[in-house]
Amino acid sequence: MARSIEKISICTGGGDAPGLNAVIQSVVYAATHRGWKVYGLREGYDGILFPERYPDGGMAELDRAKVEGIAHLGGTILGTTNRGNPFKALERAPDGGIAELDRSDTVLETLRRQKIDAHIAVGGEGSLIIALQLYRKGLRVVGVPKTIDNDLQSTTMTFGFSSAVSFATDCIDRLHMTAKAHRRIMVVEVMGRYAGWIALYSGIAGEADAILIPEIPYDIRKVGDHLKRKVSLIQPYAIVVVGEGAKPVGGEITAKSREAGRTERLGGIGEIVARELQVLTGIESRSVVLGHLLRGGSPNATDRILGLSFGAAAVHALEKGHNGVMVALNPPRIDFVPLEEAVRQFKLVPVDGEAILTARALDICFGD
Ligand code: F6P
Repeated sequence: MARSIEKISICTGGGDAPGLNAVIQSVVYAATHRGWKVYGLREGYDGILFPERYPDGGMAELDRAKVEGIAHLGGTILGTTNRGNPFKALERAPDGGIAELDRSDTVLETLRRQKIDAHIAVGGEGSLIIALQLYRKGLRVVGVPKTIDNDLQSTTMTFGFSSAVSFATDCIDRLHMTAKAHRRIMVVEVMGRYAGWIALYSGIAGEADAILIPEIPYDIRKVGDHLKRKVSLIQPYAIVVVGEGAKPVGGEITAKSREAGRTERLGGIGEIVARELQVLTGIESRSVVLGHLLRGGSPNATDRILGLSFGAAAVHALEKGHNGVMVALNPPRIDFVPLEEAVRQFKLVPVDGEAILTARALDICFGD
């Protein structure tokens, strides 16, 4: 029988995604309804590791009044970081350089001292791996999957993805008009890391002529030939959607920067593709990067409902004695899957899946 719960903590980690505040609100409502207290950690675990940085000491009690009316807001009221790994905390070394330290014990001891019985970790792959490591060191923890990239295994969908796809589709709709006015090729680069979900879904919804995703390395000449065939008096322009992790056959991913101890920052492939297509087709081309615009803004109704459902399910999981699990959408249910399983590998676009087949049926080229 699991220990009864009086106090829990919650933190949000990694890149923000629309729907985080809905999770926080739902956790607070569901937990306080059970008579539990909820404490929010600032910016991942930084609130514990660097309390001096925060006016409230890095950890604040969240009651219903504090989370009322936040479900529709983008961002996260707790703040987040994608450099806040307590197992590899970055600290200034005596020689002035930056050193990596394992400060996970500080996190565990602080939570113990504060009499926190269980923790809810909301995040993507990186944050859920940290949650798994803390669980292995004895923390009672439930994870909530978050990422606009939709690249987490074991859950049909993560919140943030739907809002990102909707926004990208709106942008593509706008680009049709300016592309047509100028008879241009417009190349739209979208986020998604090593998975092409955002590019694929927004590209289909936005009636793109070509979609380049990491899962299908492209031959730019095939894309050029396809566009030359499609661009005509009837359709005097073309739209190409490129996932930031797309790469040419036999080529590499385009990264903006690679720093030790950090995940590489992707980006720049859209501009390369636009330049190459202009040379190959003779059609003037421009590129636009949607970048962080995809993460900002309010969650749409789907992401609000998903975030609210995940938050309530996480509290329910703790009440039922689950530990070391992640809540996961498995329509029509929300399941609890072991964190270990959830972070085993990225969920990539299946190249023979339904969405790819639909796109091919619509004469969308993948450059293969
Ligand atoms: O994982 C979410 C994500 O938005 C990716 O799509 C993107 O590559 C990355 O985060 C960008 O991170 P940052 O906020 O550090 O630029």
